[in-house]
This record gives sequence, structure tokens and C-alpha cells, in this order.
Amino acid sequence: MTGRLTSLSRSVADMSVIVTGAASGMGRATAHLFADEGARVVIADLGAERVRRVEDEIAEVHGRDRVVGLAIDVTDSEAPQTLARLARDRFGGIDAVINNAGISHPARLDAPDDEFEPIWDRTVAVNLTAQMRMMRACLGDLRASVHGGRIVNIASTESVVATASLSAYAATKAAVTGMTRAAAVELGPSGITVNAICPGPIDTAMTAAIPTETKQLYAKRRVALRRYGDPEEVAHMTLNLCLPASRFVTGATICVDGGLTIRHT
Ligand code: NAI
Repeated sequence: MTGRLTSLSRSVADMSVIVTGAASGMGRATAHLFADEGARVVIADLGAERVRRVEDEIAEVHGRDRVVGLAIDVTDSEAPQTLARLARDRFGGIDAVINNAGISHPARLDAPDDEFEPIWDRTVAVNLTAQMRMMRACLGDLRASVHGGRIVNIASTESVVATASLSAYAATKAAVTGMTRAAAVELGPSGITVNAICPGPIDTAMTAAIPTETKQLYAKRRVALRRYGDPEEVAHMTLNLCLPASRFVTGATICVDGGLTIRHT
């Protein structure tokens, strides 16, 4: 180091980034934030209209050459390759993958098999298997990235603490953190970093059905900051992990939870 600091880039400008589950909540906020910071974003989610809406929102501010949307189910076996090809064709490669798409459906362990098992299988497919497939599909491009190659897998504080009826969700989110560590070790020699974020309670469609008073009471009793988080408060951590300058952070599980998991009293 010759100057005061090295010249590690603190910007995601010109990076090509894939965000899954980008039509709503944290994925949408993440896509907006990366685009605002100069990245080119591929946004993927279910439902053509939902995807087009977010694509239009970003294009209106930054232009059509900075965003492309695709309505796709991340559990389709072809989806990861299709998304990787789209990023390659439109933006010349892939510098970061944000595995954000997720579902949370309750099922008690004593529920009938035909109720419990489909929820289990779908949760594993969306929350875990799709993340693994996205990482695998993008490996070659991430290795070639001049920005270092970044993977951020969205897990949950449910990987650390647990809620009744959410065994499938908790199992997949804990698995994501383990998969993230293994991938980080394996991809370390390529300079690719792989990290997991555990959001706490965040105001999104996923938590929209919970009455406001219930949320406020929960936050008061459980969260150090006494409130639910906003989607963009998680997006900022994701952005940070994708900066070229963040190249020494890998295999980490980072809670963005307002202090939910550290609060004792
Ligand atoms: P959200 O429901 O607003 O967004 C999730 C998005 O994923 C939706 O747009 C949905 O259509 C998409 N998605 C679901 N299945 C898909 C599939 N098969 N293919 C493509 N897209 C699919 O919810 P939110 O809260 O923004 O969730 C984002 C991530 O954050 C999820 O992985 C979730 O598990 C996680 N999370 C959320 C928390 C919360 O309190 N909201 C807390 C901890 C983690």
C-alpha cells in the first residue's frame, strides 16, 4: 500500500447482477439499489406483469440498457441456465448473484401427509435447491468476473431461532447457511465470495398478513430496535457484500435483524 488506502472499488457500477424474487419486498429493493448504484440488473420472479412493473420502474430512472426482467420459476430445472444466459447476452457476464426468492408456508408436524409433504417439498425446492442451482449455473461467469465474483444467499433468522409450524422454512434457511460456508471454502481459490444474510422481521408481502398490532407487540418484546425492518435496510447489506472492496468477507452469516437474535431481555 503506497497511499493512505488501497484503491479497492467501493462501487458496484457496471457490475452485472442477477436478483431472484425481485418483483417484491427485499428483492425489489435490492434491484433498485443496485441499479441506483450503477449496476446492470437481471430481475427474475413469478408473474410477467409483476416483473414488468419493477423492470419499468428501474428503466424509467436508469434506461432500458440497465435492466432486464424475466418471469420465471426458479425451481424450473432450466431457469438457472436461462437466467445466466440472459445476463451474459445482455450484460456480457455475471458479477454477482443474489439468491433472494423464497417462500414461507406454515405446516404443523402433525398435519396430514398430503398437507405437510407438498409444503416441505416446495419449500426445499424454492428456498434451497434453486439457490444451489443458481450458484452452479453462474460459476463460470463469476470466476471470469473482473470484480471478483459475489454470491449472496438470503437465509433468515429462522436458521438461528425457530417458530412453531415453520420446520420446513427453518430447515431450508439453516441449510442455506451451511451451503454458503461450503461454497465459500470451495470457491475461495477463485476469489469468489459467498455470504448469507439472515433478515429478521421485515415489512414485505411475506409478513403482510400479520396484523400491525401483532407486529408492533412482537417487535417491542423481541427486537432490540423495537420495530420491523424495511426491505432496503437488508438491500444495503447485500450491496455492501457485493462491493469489490468487500473481497475478504466470505462464508459469513450476517444477521440484519434489528437485534432480534442478540436480545435476551
Ligand atoms: P416477498 O414475498 O415480498 O418476496 C419474495 C419473492 O420471491 C416474491 O416476489 C415471490 O414471487 C418470489 N418467489 C417465490 N417463489 C419463487 C419462485 N419459485 N420463482 C421465482 N420467484 C419466486 O418476501 P420477502 O420478505 O421480500 O422475501 C425475500 C427473502 O427474504 C426470502 O428468501 C425470505 O425467505 C427472506 N426473509 C424474509 C423475512 C421477512 O420478514 N420478510 C425474514 C427473513 C428472511
